[in-house]
Amino acid sequence: MAASVTLTVELGARAYSIVVARGVATLGAEVTRALGPAHGRRAALVADPTAARLHGAGVRAALIGAGFDLVELPVEGGEPRKQLATVEHVCDQLTRAGLDRHSPLFVLGGGVVGDLGGFAAACFLRGVDYVHLPTTLLAQVDSSIGGKTGVNLAAGKNLVGAFWQPRLVYADVATLATLPPRELAAGLAEVVKYGVIADETILTRLETRWPAPGNPIDENLLQELVADSAAIKAGVVTRDEREGGERALLNFGHTVGHAIEAATGYTALLHGEAVALGMLAACRVSVRYGGDPVLEGRLRKLLARLSLPTDIDNYLTDVVLDHLATDKKRAGTHIRFVVAERAGKAHTELIELSELRALFTKGALS
Ligand code: GLY
Repeated sequence: MAASVTLTVELGARAYSIVVARGVATLGAEVTRALGPAHGRRAALVADPTAARLHGAGVRAALIGAGFDLVELPVEGGEPRKQLATVEHVCDQLTRAGLDRHSPLFVLGGGVVGDLGGFAAACFLRGVDYVHLPTTLLAQVDSSIGGKTGVNLAAGKNLVGAFWQPRLVYADVATLATLPPRELAAGLAEVVKYGVIADETILTRLETRWPAPGNPIDENLLQELVADSAAIKAGVVTRDEREGGERALLNFGHTVGHAIEAATGYTALLHGEAVALGMLAACRVSVRYGGDPVLEGRLRKLLARLSLPTDIDNYLTDVVLDHLATDKKRAGTHIRFVVAERAGKAHTELIELSELRALFTKGALS
């Protein structure tokens, strides 16, 4: 694969590129092109401290080389820090550092720092430009693309936020080499999701080319999977920025996945692990709506190969099913549930919550 692949999120005047690169050799030039001549020199690097320690040197050198006068703001990752108080703290620091409305924010790290940094960019001085530098697989294929920014409330995840699109996403797949294996696997769950909803070849590539645990991962394959997943998300966001329709397909596996996360206190499982389980549950519902009955077995085998959990039957407890009823995407007594027709094709169905509950509890699906 080429040293970098460039995709576009086509949103008219707010269009932006996603660069999937190996290394940061082109970061300075891409940032200069994306931000144009009007931006100020003063800028902030909002960074997860671990990402900054591992990958900050190259990023700083590229941005300083591109003419930026950088102030660095460390923001710890982790869901407990994803709260309004952290955004207030970041905005406060931006003010103290003398940033103005022409000052861009560079956001380095995974999903939590990305959502927080993006939301700070949306709020600070009523909105400033920002660039995502995602360093986890989950952030590179999902959360950095599409402009969903925000924080959690005590009442639930992502309940406060804004759609605020970045000016550039620069995903350096070399950063994935330092991810803990469990976190890499959790990101792969989202890659599998794209295979199910849009492109079966993603599944076949994972089935045939992903190495057994402990073996080195081919960087070409990783770059290919990130680029193809990002391209699917970019296409969906281009056609449905505000989740009026097609964007909901990105929630395949997430309805039950979110319920499992909520029921287990957001600590037992990583988001991608819960999504892996949720995809298996969604396959079972899908069969009731005409979906291919072999898909669940195929996914189960693939998820196990990727070191992701597959014991969905242990998770379909009353507590999890109670959490389904509080899903923020439900409409009254119904929920818009993503069903897979077959590998590579999905659609949504409006399903009564009581029907879902009955499907999961009566053993009718096993
Ligand atoms: N992660 C789902 C979305 O961005 O719409």
